[in-house]
Amino acid sequence: MVRKSSIDEILNHWILAGSCILLSITGFAFLFHLEPVSAAFGGPNTMKDVHNWGGVVFGLSLLYSLRHYIADALEYDADDLQWFKVAGGYLSHKVTVPPMGKYNPGQKLYYLAIVVFGVAIALSGLGMWLMKDNATVMLLSHLVHSVSFIVFVIAVPVHIYLGTVANPGTFKLMISGTLPLDEAKRRYPKWMKAAGKM
Ligand code: HEM
Repeated sequence: MVRKSSIDEILNHWILAGSCILLSITGFAFLFHLEPVSAAFGGPNTMKDVHNWGGVVFGLSLLYSLRHYIADALEYDADDLQWFKVAGGYLSHKVTVPPMGKYNPGQKLYYLAIVVFGVAIALSGLGMWLMKDNATVMLLSHLVHSVSFIVFVIAVPVHIYLGTVANPGTFKLMISGTLPLDEAKRRYPKWMKAAGKM
């Protein structure tokens, strides 16, 4: 077996995912005044506290995730460019997908989007929470928070789909963090080569 995800990476992924889902549920409930949802949290005030502190957990978890993904997410090569040209092989079985490293460029850009819009949504949330008396901060924060929320609502379900049903076997990386050596050689040949396993 080969270890792709460390234990702290797996734990932090689930903190990031759990807080993100909690924030999405409570965020939707605020947006559409979903009373049964706020009642489930013990009323709108408690739900606001859950949302605000959930945002703090999300922000810290996002910062911690930098040590796991940012180095890979900032490195691209000619195979990555070719990967985009064949859309990762998702649109046709006739194309040849170039050999990949530990992450494909779709995953790398997904991570960068999560960092950029995650920081934006967290900072704008703090702005609305702590600077209620400043009209400019409130206006800008509402705008940034809403735009970032739209990005999350589109990107995260796509990520969940790709990490589960669309790529069978991938999900276990976020449970055990390991995969069989032959599978790792087939899916991440450049990473395996760099690790001296090929
Ligand atoms: C709750 C449902 C989720 C599932 C089933 C899921 C599944 C996965 C899986 C299987 C991987 C490993 C992919 C690989 O190593 O090849 C992964 C990685 C990752 N996940 Fe999730 N995830 C979920 C939610 C989230 C959320 C909500 C976020 C961020 C807000 C997130 C951020 C990431 C990041 C940044 C990575 C590393 C880069 C990548 O592989 O795309 N995940 N996830």
